[in-house]
Amino acid sequence: MTDKTKLSADEWDELNFPRSPENDFDRVVESALNRRGFLRGVLAFGSGAMVMGTGMLTGRSALASTTARFPFTAIDAQTDGVVHVPAGYRSKVLVSWGDALFSDAADYDVAEGGPVAGSDRVFGENTDGMETFSFRGHQLIAINQEYTNNDINLPAAQEGVPANAEDVLKLQHLQGVSVMEIAEDENGWSVVVDSPFNRRLHHNSPMTLTGPAAGHALMQTSADATGMQALGTLNNCGSGKTPWGTYLTCEENFNGYFGATGEMPSDEKIAAGYTRYGVSAEGWGYDYHKWDARFDVTQEPNEPHRAGWVVEIDPTDPTSTPVKHTGLGRFKHENAEVVLARDGRVVVYMGDDERGEFLYKFVSNGVYTPGGSTEGLLDDGTLYAAKFNDDMTGEWLALTPESTGMEMAEMLIFARSAGSAVGATTMDRPEWVAVNPYAVEAYCCLTNNTRRGTRPNAGGDETPVGGPNPREANQYGQIVRWFPNDDDHAATGFAWDLYVMAGNPAVHSDAYGGSDNVTAGNMFNSPDGMAFDSTGLLWVQTDGDDSNEGDFAGQGNNQMLAGDPATGAMARFLTGPNGSEVTGLCWSEDRRTMFVGIQHPGGSWPTGNGLPRSSVIAVTREDGGLVG
Ligand code: FEO
Ligand code: CA
Ligand code: CA
Repeated sequence: MTDKTKLSADEWDELNFPRSPENDFDRVVESALNRRGFLRGVLAFGSGAMVMGTGMLTGRSALASTTARFPFTAIDAQTDGVVHVPAGYRSKVLVSWGDALFSDAADYDVAEGGPVAGSDRVFGENTDGMETFSFRGHQLIAINQEYTNNDINLPAAQEGVPANAEDVLKLQHLQGVSVMEIAEDENGWSVVVDSPFNRRLHHNSPMTLTGPAAGHALMQTSADATGMQALGTLNNCGSGKTPWGTYLTCEENFNGYFGATGEMPSDEKIAAGYTRYGVSAEGWGYDYHKWDARFDVTQEPNEPHRAGWVVEIDPTDPTSTPVKHTGLGRFKHENAEVVLARDGRVVVYMGDDERGEFLYKFVSNGVYTPGGSTEGLLDDGTLYAAKFNDDMTGEWLALTPESTGMEMAEMLIFARSAGSAVGATTMDRPEWVAVNPYAVEAYCCLTNNTRRGTRPNAGGDETPVGGPNPREANQYGQIVRWFPNDDDHAATGFAWDLYVMAGNPAVHSDAYGGSDNVTAGNMFNSPDGMAFDSTGLLWVQTDGDDSNEGDFAGQGNNQMLAGDPATGAMARFLTGPNGSEVTGLCWSEDRRTMFVGIQHPGGSWPTGNGLPRSSVIAVTREDGGLVG
């Protein structure tokens, strides 16, 4: 049997919900790029215009060699099984899948996948988004454990198929979030085992639902008639951090955990939601539904509605109950980038990572004041979906009962349908959003969309070539950037451009060769993770094709680059081991250490023997200097 968990979420969506091709597609990328309005718009953006000018089609400028801004010498693409960083830097593993957070799990051994006993006391698998917090002299770190590779978490003979309830329980334990205290000594950073701050949140941990959809009939289950007390946080992808010091973990491909032992729900609304969000009878290979009734939609048709949210965790209080904020909408959340509007309202930018889905923004009604109440700041407000115009302007379309024709709670539970109702722009898989701390502008990685221009999204919305999604069958991805009107993240209007179009200039001489700031020396595909450092450099992590062949020849393993927002210059800083994705980035309080996540490595990384172990690494300078 095929281990479906070996498929990417994108591939799995396609397998379960094959979509009919569009028939009216008649646009090609060159026409999109040559449209007069498009180029005029590009040229209107000062230095940023250099990034996307006609040079993309006619040749390369000297832009990419402008690397003086970077405090390191860029490294070459790599194809081997280790991590590379520039000369003068070093990397060391901080924590790996199966490492104990508590001494009673010190003997936990992941060989043959590890036992169920202790699986909720160790660092989980597949590290992703993470953030650091300083609290009363303690350095805390909260880290997502996105999913499990069942072929290595279960005994090899089972080939990734759970055989009983214990297997399922172990998989449930190894995902979610790890909160840990870490400390540095002469040997570098390590986990403070048994710190009172250490905590594992997993697929069975109690959560509270708040906001307009909490308690709605569609949120009620046989175990929770209130519709306000959920269990578990699922498929924790990107992260965020609030100004008041809490951690945001974002539920992405939650749909894959559910399946049906009997009939699928017949209720029209529920069934339509399943189609839009990809809940299927078979599930993604986790088989939870066969052993845990909560994940069996034949018995619990509303349980999938209790996942797909942004969850707030207080990392300083291990007794606190995490909160699922329904005001932020339900979709396949990538990350949650929080910034304050000019008047102090809370703005949260969020991508929905699926082909042809939308980019969202939430603006609170209330204002954040340091030390004041944060009640409602992530629930009471307005959710918007982005519409990008070809003339390089855009608009945040408010999702309201009036604009969508949907009742408030249902509008949030089925936010994708609300975005469709208002005509939001179908995007090339929005991943992380990052806000520039030195300019009123935000960036979003559009990782790729091999169906751009040929297939609608799961709601039937067409995915025309154009705007910030300018290439058909886009296998490389791009980063879109927007400039809110009035220098205010709460504004509903904005201008936009593309910061970079990834590509391969060694293989293609057209738009698939990438924008001006992409060269044979720094090329990459599938930008995904992204964060600004305190100096204003933009760090971009990739999760793409690392075959180093064909369209991807010369790009090597997945990597992390630094970008200069002012010039567009980009330089490769780190490469992951072959097979891995580089995802998750944060810094120690003193900025002398950068923590980077290495997810689903191949081979036997990092130890060189046994199973590959997803890990967080600490990157430092040999001279002890700042790294961001
Ligand atoms: Fe979990 Fe879209 O990455
Ligand atoms: Ca990602
Ligand atoms: Ca990705």
